[in-house]
Amino acid sequence: MQRKKIRFGIIGLGLMGKEFGSAVARWCHLLDDSPVPVLTGICNEKNMNDRNWFTTNFPSIEIVTNAYRDLLNSDRVDAIYCAVPHHLHEQIYIDILRSGKHLLGEKPFGIDLDANTKIMEEITRHPELLVRCSSEFPYFPGAKRVTDWIKSGKYGQLIEVRSGFHHASDMDLNKPINWKRIIDINGEYGCMGDLGLHTQHIPFRMGWKPKWVFADLQKIAETRPNGKGNTVPCLTWDNAVLTTRCDDPRTGKEFTLVLETKRMAPGQTNTWFIEVYGTLGSVKFSTHDPKAFYFLETTGKEQGWTRIDIGPQSFIPTITGGIFEFGFSDSFQQMIGAFMQDLSQTPAVNSFRNVTPEETHLSHRLLTAALESHATGRRISIS
Ligand SMILES: NC(=O)c1ccc[n+]([C@@H]2O[C@H](COP(=O)([O-])OP(=O)(O)OC[C@H]3O[C@@H](n4cnc5c(N)ncnc54)[C@H](O)[C@@H]3O)[C@@H](O)[C@H]2O)c1
Repeated sequence: MQRKKIRFGIIGLGLMGKEFGSAVARWCHLLDDSPVPVLTGICNEKNMNDRNWFTTNFPSIEIVTNAYRDLLNSDRVDAIYCAVPHHLHEQIYIDILRSGKHLLGEKPFGIDLDANTKIMEEITRHPELLVRCSSEFPYFPGAKRVTDWIKSGKYGQLIEVRSGFHHASDMDLNKPINWKRIIDINGEYGCMGDLGLHTQHIPFRMGWKPKWVFADLQKIAETRPNGKGNTVPCLTWDNAVLTTRCDDPRTGKEFTLVLETKRMAPGQTNTWFIEVYGTLGSVKFSTHDPKAFYFLETTGKEQGWTRIDIGPQSFIPTITGGIFEFGFSDSFQQMIGAFMQDLSQTPAVNSFRNVTPEETHLSHRLLTAALESHATGRRISIS
């Protein structure tokens, strides 16, 4: 039987645009009968090398443009993956929705709360469209184990959950400034806007909604080279630790949720982790050691972590053998697979949905409160 095809346009052909293209190119990897993504249009600002990479590798591309409305006006495009700098999210996402295309957008889904609210208002006018935000790390098999385990309630009563994302590339103080370090383009949230949703996806999905936040934000690198021989101020937040309190819907008890987003974490390349500590059991997973799932059962005085090596199977089964390893690109493909399953309208039993627009809005309310908390030194309620 011919599988349904969804024709995608990509706006933004940088780091993430290419990752999306590569995932689509090896769709045969997934054993799933949801619709198949086909790349028919691409748009970026001006980089010809990036365009050439796409046109060389994707014979299906029909539209190549630097004007994103060309993709929105085309009847050869059903859905858009949009990966552009944060100050462009509001306008482009709203235009995508008005053109009647499904949207897989990138985080933080608007540069600030105001932009996100305007995107949310437009979404409510298009209930027929699927709108989701990118976040791939919950699709690692180890992260899947964590969410399955949380749902089983084996932790007893939650004591603390720590969810974080650590980078170290900014430890190099000679790294030239780019748009991710410029407030006007990246946003006031700094590292929280860049990395925050990655740390919030699983907690929010588990029903853990922060009631208040106390934020500790750091600006460590005060200047950076601008790549043209000068030194310029670097004003974005490098590191953030948010301490929050949530109610656990499974027990009705309150616990501490700590969300860490750090651009200057010595030794960490792109480390996403989640740790769940409970009275009866605890688990932890980190992409630093992607085959390892750790669990601990509290049965008496002495407790010890058990490490098990896990295989590559995530939510959507794949052709990969059971003893092989899983990586970033696999998680990104699984995330798009979840988007395709959502589009199929027969959601798979085991699916883990992409971040919803409502979850991006909660994220913005949390991060806006975090800025206020740091500025005032107080803990701030999240309305
Ligand atoms: N999911 C993830 O793991 C992850 C990782 C990195 C970045 N991101 C997010 O992806 C988005 C893009 O980040 P990136 O690292 O790919 O950036 P990038 O700088 O590598 O690429 C940005 C792209 O946007 C294009 N662009 C800029 N202005 C444009 C315009 N007006 N019209 C069309 N194209 C335009 C540029 O030409 C470039 O191709 C951001 O929202 C970022 O937060 C997500």
